[in-house]
Amino acid sequence: MCGIVGYTGPRQALPLVLEGLRRLEYRGYDSAGVAIVDGEGGLSTAKKAGVLGNLEHFIDSGDVALAGLTGMGHTRWATHGGPTDRNAHPHTDATGRVAVIHNGIIENFVTIRKDLESRGIEMRSDTDTEVVAHLLGQAFAQGPTAGDLPASMAAVCRCLEGAFTLVAGHADVPGMLVAARRNSPLVIGVGDGEMFLASDVAAFIAHTREAVELGQDQLVVITSHGYEVTSFSGREADFKAFHVNWDLSAAEKGGYPTFMDKEIAEQPHALADTLLGHFDGNGIVLDEQRLGEDELRTIDKVFVVACGTAFHSGLIGKYAIEHWTRLPVEVELASEFRYRDPVLDRETLVVAVSQSGETADTLEAVRHARRQRARVLAICNTNGSQIPRESDAVLYTHAGPEVGVAATKTFLAQVTANYLVGLALAQARGTKYRDEVTREFELLSEMPAAVATTLTLMDPIRELAADISRSKAVLFLGRHVGFPVALEGALKLKELAYMHAEGFAAGELKHGPIALIEEGLPVVVITPSPKADPMLHSKLLSNIREIQARGARTIVIAEEGDDTVAPFADFLLELPRVPKLFQPLVATIPLQILAAEIARSRGYDIDKPRNLAKSVTVE
Ligand code: AGP
Repeated sequence: MCGIVGYTGPRQALPLVLEGLRRLEYRGYDSAGVAIVDGEGGLSTAKKAGVLGNLEHFIDSGDVALAGLTGMGHTRWATHGGPTDRNAHPHTDATGRVAVIHNGIIENFVTIRKDLESRGIEMRSDTDTEVVAHLLGQAFAQGPTAGDLPASMAAVCRCLEGAFTLVAGHADVPGMLVAARRNSPLVIGVGDGEMFLASDVAAFIAHTREAVELGQDQLVVITSHGYEVTSFSGREADFKAFHVNWDLSAAEKGGYPTFMDKEIAEQPHALADTLLGHFDGNGIVLDEQRLGEDELRTIDKVFVVACGTAFHSGLIGKYAIEHWTRLPVEVELASEFRYRDPVLDRETLVVAVSQSGETADTLEAVRHARRQRARVLAICNTNGSQIPRESDAVLYTHAGPEVGVAATKTFLAQVTANYLVGLALAQARGTKYRDEVTREFELLSEMPAAVATTLTLMDPIRELAADISRSKAVLFLGRHVGFPVALEGALKLKELAYMHAEGFAAGELKHGPIALIEEGLPVVVITPSPKADPMLHSKLLSNIREIQARGARTIVIAEEGDDTVAPFADFLLELPRVPKLFQPLVATIPLQILAAEIARSRGYDIDKPRNLAKSVTVE
């Protein structure tokens, strides 16, 4: 939610800031803006509503001089104030000499705004951020922190409530940027005689792979000579330096038309890399394990908390974890979890699933669980992000950076990680013998190849997509692990193609939703294996018959060689045979491609669906 970039060093800042913004545009694309400190006592800004390209065109028109060695940029996902030029960041104070960019929400901005207005300050935007620029301008101009930008920023931060990453620069202090964070991400890129600030390392990976991750309530000052981290009260603070172990090509499109196409194609690797290093011959290994085997053994119930696609991965995980561990598992939307007073104690394991590791709803669910003394295990794709930092144990999905807003490879990686959690618990609790855990892991290790084969079978789905792109709606049906796959298929179609789509448990259809079926309505059905579960298969076959009899156009995803289903399928796609619990790893792929292709044929940008942002850092 909002992307932030800062640079100071010997090079012109503008091209580096724009390059960083391009890599962070997945975080929001309602507007974009830059501010450059020119080193001669001036500060200039340029900002435009809409995608980054609008700002670039505006800058190319040459109306604003943006030369200087220190600069910052922002790409916005609007929370307070519409996506307009005037609400775009950076925001400046009344003098125009200080500029601020912000990711997050200042919860007490209304009170601050009223106070500023009562003192005659005129607001020029509807944002919560602008108040920070005014407060900072005032703190720098007079009082105990006058002329000291870091001290002014620290003083302002102490007055703010909510979530924020802030970066500020001042015309009077060329060569310096000051940044602060609370509940929103911020990393420092340490270059050779130059320094970067960003929401995500992708912004500066082309220039340095040495990074520093800031902790909660910390402030950093960067100059071309280095960086200094303190707490908001000015005390020395601990921080973590790390080396980024992926390179620029991982954040580029690599010849694919969109990031989403590339990320779908990368799924076999995402799965294989997620499995890598998580089995050492003796059993399943977690990444950061601050929970002893003894503690895992005492767990008597599991909650999986997550949002959106990550939530669907948890729904799949439930089937596996319950099957292998015999522990009750509840899967809950993170945004609902803490509001219903769930029954949590030291024997509860809360599994928090999040690609970004910064989703506010999931983070708050983690905090709630920890306050109730539950143990928290994070499944996360972003090294060192907030959710794993606040958890007792971590299992990283090594899917690599995902830029497309719609989660694809990280979903498959999350599902895989849920299986690993199930096996780790089964191993700790002794509900599976060691050789059984090993056998399941071996079967799981065959899945990257099955996913690769599945990807070669997708041409018919692409043709079908063009055909149904004008439909009013699409329904998705499944049973057992096919049900969450149906939910995920519907979510992908909604978010990418802006079509009405619903996922249902196939058996539930006759209890109401079957009334939606009308002549020609496309219904995608995820069919279980007839060999692995003949009863479930025959029940689903009946459901297909019921909808076909009512005129639905049946689009059936089935296991290769499933002859019984063919007569009821208007369209049939056969997928490789895989173990029953692992079917989502192959069955989700055609649904991702269906949604992407329908969206494309409707003329939409599949990397940047409207109204969305990759990381949702507000509740
Ligand atoms: C799905 O395509 C979305 N990107 C969204 O539902 C996402 O999965 C959700 O916002 C959770 O994000 P997280 O995994 O980063 O926590």
